Amino acid sequence: MRSTTTDERAETPPDVPESMRAVVAGGYGDTDVLDTGVVPVPTPGAGDVLVRVEASSLNALDWHFLTGTPYLIRITNGLRRPKRTIPGADVAGTVVAVGSDVTVHRVGDAVFGECEGGGCGEYLTVDAKEVVAVPVGVSFEAAGATPVAGLTAVQALRTHAALQPGEHALINGAAGGVGTFAVQIAKALGAEVTAVCSARNVDVVRALGADTVIDYTTTDFVDGGARFDVMMDNVGNRTPAECLAVLRPGARFVAVSGPKTDRWLGPIPHIIRTALAVRRADASFHQFTASPNEADLRFLGDLLAEGRLTPEIDRVIGLDGVAAGLAEIGTGHTRAKIVVRPS
Ligand SMILES: NC(=O)c1ccc[n+]([C@@H]2O[C@H](COP(=O)([O-])OP(=O)(O)OC[C@H]3O[C@@H](n4cnc5c(N)ncnc54)[C@H](OP(=O)(O)O)[C@@H]3O)[C@@H](O)[C@H]2O)c1
Repeated sequence: MRSTTTDERAETPPDVPESMRAVVAGGYGDTDVLDTGVVPVPTPGAGDVLVRVEASSLNALDWHFLTGTPYLIRITNGLRRPKRTIPGADVAGTVVAVGSDVTVHRVGDAVFGECEGGGCGEYLTVDAKEVVAVPVGVSFEAAGATPVAGLTAVQALRTHAALQPGEHALINGAAGGVGTFAVQIAKALGAEVTAVCSARNVDVVRALGADTVIDYTTTDFVDGGARFDVMMDNVGNRTPAECLAVLRPGARFVAVSGPKTDRWLGPIPHIIRTALAVRRADASFHQFTASPNEADLRFLGDLLAEGRLTPEIDRVIGLDGVAAGLAEIGTGHTRAKIVVRPS
């Protein structure tokens, strides 16, 4: 797969076709409900831009929207059939048309950001306020790997945990999409980082800058006696008592995820139990859903441009690889990011 350069982005955008190739979910289900077909190119609303997708990436949320689990998400995404039918909540690409109210982007601009699905198609529309310019020198693949996972890591560590230079952060689940961004962002914020992953990912996570890497298949981070100022939990596999055991007085616990075993409520019961326990101790509890945010996207763009953040990309796939990629995400053991190039 080629990596698009800044120079290529200066090309005049082509005429917009009426139809495009995309991976479409015919209903809720496993990856067998996905089909690659030809669908109409969407029309941008007044505040939207139409983007020719150069790169997107797969995230755990694509799996949740595909399967409609936990069932709670069907309240917003459609009770019987999904509203979001094309996976891909990350986008990096070229603006090929703008809505009548859009003044911040022009046709030909290279942009990246979070979108409401569509990344596994050749074109998508996105709210113009939710994408920002791809910094010069940053490839579309790097930009397309970044939004959801990068925003989650920034909002967990900078916004909610207010991680300070010299503090010690524990990142549980350091080898996935979110974790590989979190390790690098915690280092960029000046923290000492202890990262937890399985044996096969230890070298990758160490190369991202983690000071200490714990292989959870041989070592339990709760037993080591270390205490942390911040625990970012991307897995949700530990009891509240185990989490409290590794927190220093005044620590911040950030719950990014929880167990997937409850098909109705997902991580909510686990998160409530943990929140109650942490709040009874001398620590603060933070839970959030990452959201597109111009300031945070620009922060990520600056880190990418300065070379202080390099998305760890496991592989680059075309539309024909999306079903297998999503099946892997469903196992909960994806390594880093799977980038999609739709055309
Ligand atoms: N709150 C939010 O706004 C938000 C945003 C994005 C994602 N999330 C959630 O955050 C979670 C992580 O997302 P992601 O994109 O990083 O998922 P991912 O790319 O699928 O990665 C999951 C990672 O978890 C690791 N893991 C599994 N079991 C583990 C264990 N026992 N101990 C330590 N690590 C373990 C796996 O590493 P090994 O293969 O090494 O086990 C894998 O790399 C997902 O549940 C997702 O739904 C929440």
